[in-house]
Amino acid sequence: MLRPPMLAVAGLHAYYGRAHILADVALEIARGEVVALLGRNGAGKSTTMKSIMGLVRPAKGRVTFEGRDITAAAPHAIARRGLGYVPEERRIFVDLTVMENLESAARRRARMPRPGRPSACSRSSPISRRCAAGRGAACRAASSRC
Ligand SMILES: Nc1ncnc2c1ncn2[C@@H]1O[C@H](COP(=O)(O)OP(=O)(O)OP(=O)(O)O)[C@@H](O)[C@H]1O
Ligand SMILES: [Mg+2]
Repeated sequence: MLRPPMLAVAGLHAYYGRAHILADVALEIARGEVVALLGRNGAGKSTTMKSIMGLVRPAKGRVTFEGRDITAAAPHAIARRGLGYVPEERRIFVDLTVMENLESAARRRARMPRPGRPSACSRSSPISRRCAAGRGAACRAASSRC
């Protein structure tokens, strides 16, 4: 029997104001599959990712992750379910490598530290390793959370 896809998007529509950016987007990704979404600048690749991640609220359609409907759930709730998002352009940890940025979004259901409690950030995480090495902006960004 075929297993259901890990991530499924169906009939997704999204707008910025009156501009109709995504029209009936559909995709399915199976566990272990590596998928690239290609398109010209402004085609709507980032908007598709943001709609999946709850950063843009789709007007219509459905996003399912591991069998659960996550359409327009809050981004932090989606992240806790194990779906990571690494943004483009400047919204990354500039001191980390590409791989480390990707790894930092791949931590699943990481526990949030309580205020005043020493780091619940995993010591093995790339950000914590850089912190331990006393490295610049990534350390400052991480310390504001740890
Ligand atoms: N916050 C926003 N408000 C209004 N319009 C936006 C916003 N973000 C993106 N757009 C517009 O939506 C369309 C799709 O943009 P999007 O960023 O999803 O494209 P993209 O395929 O990721 O492009 P790129 O290859 O440049 O990263 C573009 O016309 C863009 O100008
Ligand atoms: Mg983009």
